[in-house]
Amino acid sequence: MIQVKRQIILNESLGADIYRLSIQAPEIAAAAQAGQFIMVKAGMGFDPLLRRPFSIHQVEGDEIRILFKRLGKGTALLSKLNAGERLDILGPLGNAFTLKQPPCCLIGGGMGVAPLLFLAQTMLSRGITPHILLGARNKEELMAFLPAFQALGCPLQYATDDGSMGQRGFIIEALPPLLAKDNKVKWQVYSCGPYPMMRAVAAICHSKWPCQVSMETMMACGISACLGCTVTARNTNEKGGQYLHVCQDGPVFAADRIEWKS
Ligand SMILES: Cc1cc2nc3c(=O)[nH]c(=O)nc-3n(C[C@H](O)[C@H](O)[C@H](O)COP(=O)(O)OP(=O)(O)OC[C@H]3O[C@@H](n4cnc5c(N)ncnc54)[C@H](O)[C@@H]3O)c2cc1C
Ligand code: FES
Repeated sequence: MIQVKRQIILNESLGADIYRLSIQAPEIAAAAQAGQFIMVKAGMGFDPLLRRPFSIHQVEGDEIRILFKRLGKGTALLSKLNAGERLDILGPLGNAFTLKQPPCCLIGGGMGVAPLLFLAQTMLSRGITPHILLGARNKEELMAFLPAFQALGCPLQYATDDGSMGQRGFIIEALPPLLAKDNKVKWQVYSCGPYPMMRAVAAICHSKWPCQVSMETMMACGISACLGCTVTARNTNEKGGQYLHVCQDGPVFAADRIEWKS
């Protein structure tokens, strides 16, 4: 884990309140693995006090990129930063997706697509071509991140909740037909997105197809100091505990390790 203050290369508005922020951070770029995240200090002073977590979206040479949606105070401040300004970041944090034998399916929704671009690029660099499923609320949101995925040249399906682009409805609907195409094939599924989407992915895959999910909880510290980022485990661990800490044990988990709440 490295804490550095590094220069912003570019902060692009991609529409739908979504931004892609590129930071010159050679130390983090060299160590980063797909699935890991960084903690970003959004303001200069004490407001907001806490760093905000963001998945590593891309690594290009010395540069790391995050993809974020403007939601509250922290992301509003981040959206106003300009190239040349310096950002205080901590990372890479957490664990990474485990690469398994293909075929692989990546399914993401909303800002959950962020770590999947890095994952897809990592897979491609190892000769694995993943099948990618992406969901968004509408065309504007989808167009904020779709071109970067299209540029990879992988098989790609997408859906929007309102049908303004691609299939109408939730992208999760595309998963069962894909997995069922050939019963002899053992798909590996990787998912990140809203909780209900990952819960549905986990239910579809349960005991048939190995599935890894990247969980997003509220995080105060990101370094296992506040214990504020817990999710409930399906089984108790060797110490009798039943909680998993997303910042330390995750954010990536085997979907069957999670006790999914309705
Ligand atoms: C491991 C991890 C990776 C993440 N990666 C990304 C990413 O790549 N891109 C991205 O846009 N966002 C990502 N998030 C969520 C992101 O951290 C929050 O959107 C951000 O902290 C909001 O900060 P804010 O100050 O703008 O909002 P706040 O003012 O803190 O909150 C505004 C609204 O956002 C909600 N919110 C705040 N934090 C979270 C959170 N962690 N998860 C869900 N809802 C939240 C609040 O409940 C509130 O409704 C990630 C979260 C985690 C834990
Ligand atoms: S965010 Fe503090 S322990 Fe995980």
